[in-house]
Amino acid sequence: MEQLVLDYTHAMADVVGPEHGLTRAELADCAAASKIALAAVQARRTKDLRWLDLPYQTSVHEQVLDYADRMAGRFQNIVVCGIGGSALGTIALQQALNSPYHNLGARQSLPRLFVLDNIDPDLIGEFLAQFDPSECLFNVISKSGTTAETTSQFLIFQQALIERLGRKEHVEHLCVTTDESKGVMREIVRREGYQSFVVPEGVGGRFSVLSPVGLVPLALAGIDIKGVLKGAADMDARCRNEDFHSNPAQVYAAIQWLMQARKRKPMSVTFSYSQRLALLADWYAQLLAESIGKRQSRKGVDVFAGPTPIRALGVTDQHSQMQLYTEGPHDKWFTLLSVERSDYSVPIPAAYADLEAIRYLGDRTLNELFAAERDGARVALTAAQRPSVTFHFPKVNPHAIGQYIQCLEIAVALMGEHYDVDAFDQPGVEAGKIAAYALMGRTGFEAKKAEIESAAPSSRLRV
Ligand code: PA5
Repeated sequence: MEQLVLDYTHAMADVVGPEHGLTRAELADCAAASKIALAAVQARRTKDLRWLDLPYQTSVHEQVLDYADRMAGRFQNIVVCGIGGSALGTIALQQALNSPYHNLGARQSLPRLFVLDNIDPDLIGEFLAQFDPSECLFNVISKSGTTAETTSQFLIFQQALIERLGRKEHVEHLCVTTDESKGVMREIVRREGYQSFVVPEGVGGRFSVLSPVGLVPLALAGIDIKGVLKGAADMDARCRNEDFHSNPAQVYAAIQWLMQARKRKPMSVTFSYSQRLALLADWYAQLLAESIGKRQSRKGVDVFAGPTPIRALGVTDQHSQMQLYTEGPHDKWFTLLSVERSDYSVPIPAAYADLEAIRYLGDRTLNELFAAERDGARVALTAAQRPSVTFHFPKVNPHAIGQYIQCLEIAVALMGEHYDVDAFDQPGVEAGKIAAYALMGRTGFEAKKAEIESAAPSSRLRV
């Protein structure tokens, strides 16, 4: 099985200069702290960081595959109702591992997969207008079982199903993934008899894509989840290695920390030179932002920590953001995602031999042009003293994607140690949820509602 490669040549001082690049000494210093961080994270593996062991939950994987087998051919549409960590991993893996045109259904008999991770009435209303619920399997995913967005989607689609199919029949069209015992969705499963899966203890939303949260919808949409899990397990073994330079999670976490703490680069850009990997950057943005973006350190001191994740897509954003990246403030470092072998080779026809601006493209391939643009972008970043690392994917396949997921999750856990913040809570997200409950008039949140309503008057103008 081919391994992902993390190349950090272009993050080093001898390539981009000592002001913006890392010296061997800076990395060596961080390696000592990193070893302690690794021990601290691994010690929690069987306690509260159970997500580390998700690649090995074989009986759960079999349950998921068995359910997917039983549902095969029964539905035209798999519809995920979930948000944040209950949605982003599935969206990213669907984009990476199914055809970009999968939902057009032109070439296969697998169901479409929709992840409705918003409650914009125009999104949900249009879905109801376009799709017959009797052709849909709705997978309601909420670890807490209390998220207002997901609960309201559930209520809307449950009613649509009951109206279309009747109370008894509708049950087969709903599947719930939630906590084993806590939260109102578990209570609903008990009352209605829905098929359900468990988000295990010690698996936070943004670390849950390799649990039934991601595995169920991905398996239903025909993705090789065993291949993804094998890749994750292989990477997990590499990320237990105490030797800093052999452990990609240690190296990546250390670079992130040093780029912000020593090189004053608060922005972390994931620049995907692959359409199929583009949404992994969205998945990682949440993982990084929610885990490391914290007001307080673990000792309760205000630190206002955290890098700002930015997503960019090559080559598209070369014609949009590259100008800023090469000439704007020196406040960013870059992670390029690069694919060695595409599934397709697309020749560019030769024509207009007398026009040099066209002639040089003839008899080459899009693959060559894409690679040249990616390498050209790295050359331009390096020349402008903008540090970058590159994850080289041998191919975009389940094994490579599984490796990336596990590596980045472990890296973010290690970043929590470097930044000295709790990487596994999300008090800022909870604050927003509580405010929404209050504004919706939920019982028990009256004081919060009064507090919000007594806030300073707004300043606005008509435009
Ligand atoms: O990572 C997280 O914990 C959050 O993004 C949650 O996934 C998100 O808020 C949705 O929560 P839940 O799955 O409980 O509905």
